[in-house]
Amino acid sequence: MELRDVLKKRVSYRFDFTDRKVTKDELKYIVEAAFLAPSGSNRQTPRIIGVLDDEKVLKLGEIYGFDWAKTATAAVVIAYKVMEKRPGKRSRHLEDFSAAAQNLLLAVVDLGFATTWIQGQIENEKSEQMAELLNLPEDLNVIGYFPIGEPSREVSGPEKMSFDERCFLNEFGSSF
Ligand SMILES: Cc1cc2nc3c(=O)[nH]c(=O)nc-3n(C[C@H](O)[C@H](O)[C@H](O)COP(=O)(O)O)c2cc1C
Repeated sequence: MELRDVLKKRVSYRFDFTDRKVTKDELKYIVEAAFLAPSGSNRQTPRIIGVLDDEKVLKLGEIYGFDWAKTATAAVVIAYKVMEKRPGKRSRHLEDFSAAAQNLLLAVVDLGFATTWIQGQIENEKSEQMAELLNLPEDLNVIGYFPIGEPSREVSGPEKMSFDERCFLNEFGSSF
């Protein structure tokens, strides 16, 4: 798909998926997109776990706690490694994760699948349960969960501000 079409088509999807299975190659394409993202000072803090095992995909949905996510046929969980801060520098793991997550979203849409960036709703014991399920070492923290599958319906997404309200040419307030 053309990049512009992917960008326009991407919306958060929170409905049942079809039975069409995501293949291992497709999941690898999605995980590789996240892997290819930039990271602050090239510290490469994200760890990306593609999940295809039916039981684990379902269990992740159960931990998350929403029925639609339980119908996913694959999932990706992203964790970050806490890197020692250098003097005067804060860790960039949040930005690194965000870059990886956005790449992932676009790859999902490119293949005709759908997902949602789930972060806020797992910022509690759910992220720890996911880490345990996936056998993560102690120094990794789960930060994002992405249930993936073929959408069963078209979704238009929420209301957004107009382009001119948020984007400007040459100076603030001047429209394109
Ligand atoms: C940092 C971040 C955290 C998010 N966490 C969640 C979440 O926990 N659960 C959820 O359903 N959506 C989550 N989202 C998705 C947003 O709700 C969604 O992107 C926003 O409402 C705009 O809708 P759109 O993605 O369809 O454009 C998150 C998005 C971002 C960027």
